Amino acid sequence: MNKINVGLIGFGNVGSGVVKILRDKKQLLCKKSGVEINIKKICDKDFKSRRPVSVEKSLLTRSPKEVIEDPQIDIVVELIGGIHPAKEIIIQALEGGKNVVTANKALLAQEGKELFALARDRAKNIYFEASVGAGIPIIKALREGLVANKFHDIFGIVNGTSNFVLSEMSRNNCTFARAIAEAKTRGFAEKDPSLDINGIDSAHKLILLTYLCFGRLVSLNDIFVEGISHISISDINYAKELGLEIKLLAIAKIEKGELEVRVHPTLIPMDHLLASVDGIDNAFYVSSDLAGNLLFYGPGAGQLCAASAVVSDLMDITKDIKAGLFKSVLNNVPDISVKKLRKIDEIESRYYIRILAMDKPGVLARVSGILGKFGISIASVSQKERRKAQIVPIVMVSHEAKEKNMRQALVTIDRLNVVRPKSVAIRIEEV
Ligand SMILES: NC(=O)c1ccc[n+]([C@@H]2O[C@H](COP(=O)([O-])OP(=O)(O)OC[C@H]3O[C@@H](n4cnc5c(N)ncnc54)[C@H](OP(=O)(O)O)[C@@H]3O)[C@@H](O)[C@H]2O)c1
Repeated sequence: MNKINVGLIGFGNVGSGVVKILRDKKQLLCKKSGVEINIKKICDKDFKSRRPVSVEKSLLTRSPKEVIEDPQIDIVVELIGGIHPAKEIIIQALEGGKNVVTANKALLAQEGKELFALARDRAKNIYFEASVGAGIPIIKALREGLVANKFHDIFGIVNGTSNFVLSEMSRNNCTFARAIAEAKTRGFAEKDPSLDINGIDSAHKLILLTYLCFGRLVSLNDIFVEGISHISISDINYAKELGLEIKLLAIAKIEKGELEVRVHPTLIPMDHLLASVDGIDNAFYVSSDLAGNLLFYGPGAGQLCAASAVVSDLMDITKDIKAGLFKSVLNNVPDISVKKLRKIDEIESRYYIRILAMDKPGVLARVSGILGKFGISIASVSQKERRKAQIVPIVMVSHEAKEKNMRQALVTIDRLNVVRPKSVAIRIEEV
């Protein structure tokens, strides 16, 4: 076999980047794989908008069927995004005996169980390197480079938009609204950035990372998800005084045999490597038993970054086909040390707490009394201003406390007539 035919569905941002790389790097890729990767058909809804590469009209079609049903096509690349008809396209491609490459984290997070099972049944593969971290080869690293490792945890900054917003607030002392506006102006946020800001995009990626690290395909409902829209510039600044930096982290970790999967704004020590990951960059901090602690870092989006990962998947499948191999990337072995998923109420962490309370004698004692009643002990307290008989911020850092207790304590504190709701608690991770 000296030629592999590829059919592309979705000739948009990433799709046109893939075609450009396959054209520009044709000789190099051929030398490395010993096979020519040939684009046989390209499908899109329309071809009017400008692309960074020109292609012969004879390759173009508006019908996905023409790609999926072409018997000469070996690999179908789905780059349209969304759930439907992307799901149907992948199902039909697998049923037609084709391997699939996709960058569609939302689809795999929601429908992965069915799609991966079908791929296994048909002895085909779904490769999805671009779906997490774009060009950062984190999936290949977890799947292959670290194959003999047992993972303890993975902490990811996996959403460039929210990381840009938090970095902008932290570095330029601006409000959330201004940071979002800046992200839109610079093309780092969609018109409606809610999936990025509310943590759902990060949760989709966490589902795939958890699958690769722990062999568990959890669902979105299993993940605790909290976004960044309630984060204020004053909390960022108070946390800085404590030597802490805020990041939206996607976290999967094992504690006492229980797997925690959560996405939320997290305070981490300023001198930790993840704290300096700024702007639209992504990073993954992985702890493993053999290779130790590793950081993967780089741009988490962008046409050529994502297309680079798609081409890497195409090369992997090409080599497998050439070698006559069926090698499932999906045969993740569940980590048997994981007894169950831990609910958010049961997690334990240190907390940054900010309360707005009346500056008068006895108030602090009442607040500490409530925290004590819920078993929460305080490591440090500082009152940020002095304005007698007026509301002032009080910032505390707790020792390890149970989430459920912290929530109940804050609800009780917010009911005090000397406190102005709503008090803030941000989890601190000892990454
Ligand atoms: N952009 C990135 O940096 C990046 C990074 C990692 C992963 N990804 C993932 O890559 C995938 C593609 O993203 P993208 O940024 O390339 O999106 P995009 O620029 O919107 O490209 C998608 C293309 O598919 C076309 N399309 C939509 N539905 C179709 C259908 N039913 N049949 C044929 N064509 C259809 C769209 O046409 P219309 O425009 O006319 O709808 C558009 O040209 C998504 O799953 C995304 O999450 C993107």
